[in-house]
Amino acid sequence: MTKDLLAHVELSPAQFERARKLAYEVSGIRLDDSKAGLVTARIMHRLRALGLPSMGAYFELLDKDPAESAKLVDELTTNKTSFFRESSHFDALRKKVVATAVNRRLRIWSAGCSSGEEPYTLAMTLREMGDELNGFDIRILATDLSERMLAKARAGVYDDEQMGDIAPALRSKYFEQTNDDQWRVKPILRQLIQFAPLNLQGEWPMKGPFNAIYCRNVMIYFDRETRQRLVNRFTNLLGPNGFFFVGHSESLTGLTSTLRYMEPAAYARS
Ligand SMILES: C[S@@+](CC[C@H](N)C(=O)[O-])C[C@H]1O[C@@H](n2cnc3c(N)ncnc32)[C@H](O)[C@@H]1O
Repeated sequence: MTKDLLAHVELSPAQFERARKLAYEVSGIRLDDSKAGLVTARIMHRLRALGLPSMGAYFELLDKDPAESAKLVDELTTNKTSFFRESSHFDALRKKVVATAVNRRLRIWSAGCSSGEEPYTLAMTLREMGDELNGFDIRILATDLSERMLAKARAGVYDDEQMGDIAPALRSKYFEQTNDDQWRVKPILRQLIQFAPLNLQGEWPMKGPFNAIYCRNVMIYFDRETRQRLVNRFTNLLGPNGFFFVGHSESLTGLTSTLRYMEPAAYARS
């Protein structure tokens, strides 16, 4: 590409600042200077989707159309996930969380569920407990800011590569193959899950109490102040002995919290 053509698709420092400010204000996601390339690529994606000729035209649209702000923030989220990711947290579900159920009522929240692998893994883990959970009233709430990811999660269709993390016996039990390399989740899993859009920075309509909240690999993108505020809010929604899981590269170190440490990246309410 010649320099002239590139000038149309280069992000100026002011435009980068604008996108960074928007992401922080809406979602709490912090984008440092090293993310300029990523932000450019994601804006280019929007630009192409809208058929716009230049960055300037895109930012003009952003000024006029509030719906585009939401779409850009969605585009700036990081959505990496997988089935049975950090699998000890699903062992903890079987071995410890289920024991916190009162009157056989089990409520789990996957906060930042991305494309659905986390809540479907929670559902598979519980279904695999079989008769042990007979008569239990089980509901998994799965929320995310990203409408793109929620659409994928609701569709529940995954390719061979994504399915590779699921043991073959579970694969055929809980998914049906729709073509050579596509699998669709069966109703027996889906019926345990309610998907809903939710920005963690906004109002939370649910009252709890939850037996467990999984907010894994979400708060790593937030600053300390935002994490502290969220941990306080999550704690208030946990039932007695309810569990709070973060990603394995995260911890509550440096935050003030009444939660007690249980095992790596897992905490519980007293
Ligand atoms: C890296 S994924 C983690 C997915 C899953 N929890 C896991 O550990 O595999 C992070 C998710 O958090 C979501 N997210 C980021 N900021 C959010 C916010 N303010 N409110 C709700 N979800 C948010 C993103 O859209 C993304 O899908």
